[in-house]
Amino acid sequence: MTVSQPPTLEQTVAEVARRLADAGIEAPRRDARLLVCSLLGGGPELLLASPERRLSDSEAATVEAAVARRLRREPISRILGRREFWSLEFLLDAETLDPRPDSETLVEAVLQWAAQHDEALRLLDLGSGSGCLLLALISELPRASGLGIDIAPGAVTTATENAQRLGLAGRAAFVAGSWQGALPRTESGEPWDIVISNPPYIPTGDIETLEPEVSAYDPARALDGGADGLDAYRALIPKAAAVLRATGLLALEVGAGQAAAVKGLLEEAGFSTVWTARDLSGIERCVLATQARKSRESASD
Ligand SMILES: C[S@@+](CC[C@H](N)C(=O)[O-])C[C@H]1O[C@@H](n2cnc3c(N)ncnc32)[C@H](O)[C@@H]1O
Repeated sequence: MTVSQPPTLEQTVAEVARRLADAGIEAPRRDARLLVCSLLGGGPELLLASPERRLSDSEAATVEAAVARRLRREPISRILGRREFWSLEFLLDAETLDPRPDSETLVEAVLQWAAQHDEALRLLDLGSGSGCLLLALISELPRASGLGIDIAPGAVTTATENAQRLGLAGRAAFVAGSWQGALPRTESGEPWDIVISNPPYIPTGDIETLEPEVSAYDPARALDGGADGLDAYRALIPKAAAVLRATGLLALEVGAGQAAAVKGLLEEAGFSTVWTARDLSGIERCVLATQARKSRESASD
């Protein structure tokens, strides 16, 4: 009688890739390698380092459960419960958006502005989700501090844990709240130096046309921007203006094709200087604005 050997890592990755390809999943080999190697506690390079490593029964069961989830189109980041953003690791949960690489455009643009303001900047993040934007910024600005608010209590808990894991909890806090209500000021009652937001901006009718990885797994309130995708901007721009220092910066992520409309909303709200930053695909991804109006300067600076 021959006793069959447990599969090797190489065999497992090949078999998982075949099953993902049969299900029509894009980049099946990349996904298979990332998923299996991560579940075994390594990076994708584990496959090159130890192709002959044999999986234990419990490892094979873990891989099988994860593959079943991927076949239901759950993104790998959600299966693993974590995502890298700005070279930092963020935990995710069902109430957090899976951070997108395009959102690094906002981080870069805010850092460019901050480089000309040698101060202990105070940041407010509206709709902070996993905390990726605020924590990436605070990690680059050693004297900065900030507050993230989100309507989803689970996201607040996860962002708080992310701040702790990244050693940034002393300078970044997260609380439940909504931009539909009055926004907080800094602890000392002053206006913020920087307000950032990546609000929900997908037009409601477009959500069901998105990949299932997005439409079925990102929380609806992280995606749904109302009929034209702009509801959150209409609500939060005047609120942000009211708690932002006159010479401060408002930075908003926008969807493809929304920059002109959001610029218009900012100008209506009294922002005098408005500019955009493009993502790696050349799309205007972030709209930035300052409100250096004389009346506001004397009122809040
Ligand atoms: C597109 S996600 C962005 C999350 C995170 N900042 C990021 O970039 O990955 C939008 C976030 O806004 C939150 N949100 C939606 N409506 C809100 C409201 N009225 N007030 C506060 N947060 C809200 C959602 O829960 C979600 O976390």
